[in-house]
Amino acid sequence: MDKSSISARIEDIRKKYGSDLVILGHHYQADEVVEHVDIVGDSLELARRIPDIEARNIVFCGVFFMAESASLLARPGQRVFLPDHSADCAMARMAKAEDVEKVLEKLAASGRKVVPLAYVNSSLAVKAVVGRFGGAVCTSSNAKVMLEWAFKQGDAVLFLPDRNLGRNTAKQLGIPAEQQVEIDAAGKKLDSEEARNARLLLWPGCCPIHEQLMKPEMVTEFHKHFPGCRVLVHPECSPEVVDICDGSGSTAFLIKEAEKAAAAGTEPALCIGTEFHLVHRLMERYADRINIIPLAQATCHDMEKVDEPSLLATLERLESGEGVVTVDEALKAPARESLMRMLENCR
Ligand code: 13P
Ligand code: SF4
Repeated sequence: MDKSSISARIEDIRKKYGSDLVILGHHYQADEVVEHVDIVGDSLELARRIPDIEARNIVFCGVFFMAESASLLARPGQRVFLPDHSADCAMARMAKAEDVEKVLEKLAASGRKVVPLAYVNSSLAVKAVVGRFGGAVCTSSNAKVMLEWAFKQGDAVLFLPDRNLGRNTAKQLGIPAEQQVEIDAAGKKLDSEEARNARLLLWPGCCPIHEQLMKPEMVTEFHKHFPGCRVLVHPECSPEVVDICDGSGSTAFLIKEAEKAAAAGTEPALCIGTEFHLVHRLMERYADRINIIPLAQATCHDMEKVDEPSLLATLERLESGEGVVTVDEALKAPARESLMRMLENCR
């Protein structure tokens, strides 16, 4: 089938299901997918919208952890589909639930109250462990509020899996670097003097796209070519990058800033450091008003696994239930607890 036939078939199926089908998509999805989506958003926005959806079928165009959270927050009888189950965030894979649990048990045995705070880019099993240990989930939109919350709950915080978001957010709260320690997944470093005294323990995880493909010298180069113009990045970039940028925030923040800059028309160029599908969309949307430049042409291969053919295949077999994301019953209550702590603190 050619592209236009696939597109038309997807639209036919959407029409057939009407209000019984809602398609959600993350901002990193390619345009060919976004054009079929009912709700497009960042991780926080998409999680927030789930409880209000009444449709029996929810198709989530994004990565596995997002669909897992959607499945957890969905109503009884609703089904959440992910077009490609192998679309699994590389960062989320860096924190295994059993390792997180062992580290938290070791910390609990030390007598200190260490509160876990899990970035939403983590498996549901990790969210469940975090929930059982009194912790919560956060997204890049509310990491500052949630880190402040976590510090109030105990003596120290274990931030996972993203060491960069952890460090960048700690800087906003004025936590000195000497009070932060990156640990190892086996928990060996927990025995060190500095880890025992640290206020913030960081899991050794990162987003390979934001950490490895976006470098400080790229920011310097842009500033040199476009003096006075801003570089805005996602906080999954390393602190070395974020520290020399002109702002950082979630995908929703980056979109808002591009929109404002295009409306004001006072900046000749704006550089954006995040996944390329989103940056490319902004470049095209505002091409007549501002020169939007990507910090790097970095695409997320997991997000790319969802495309028009896989979306169509999912829609074609909706009735069979194939492709449904299910959640282990035993994980539901504790994982929901950690997610609800975030949703309640960030209404
Ligand atoms: P947002 O929470 O900003 O949508 O980002 C999610 C993500 O995976 C970034 O790499
Ligand atoms: Fe995960 Fe990075 Fe892809 Fe975001 S861009 S989904 S953090 S691998």
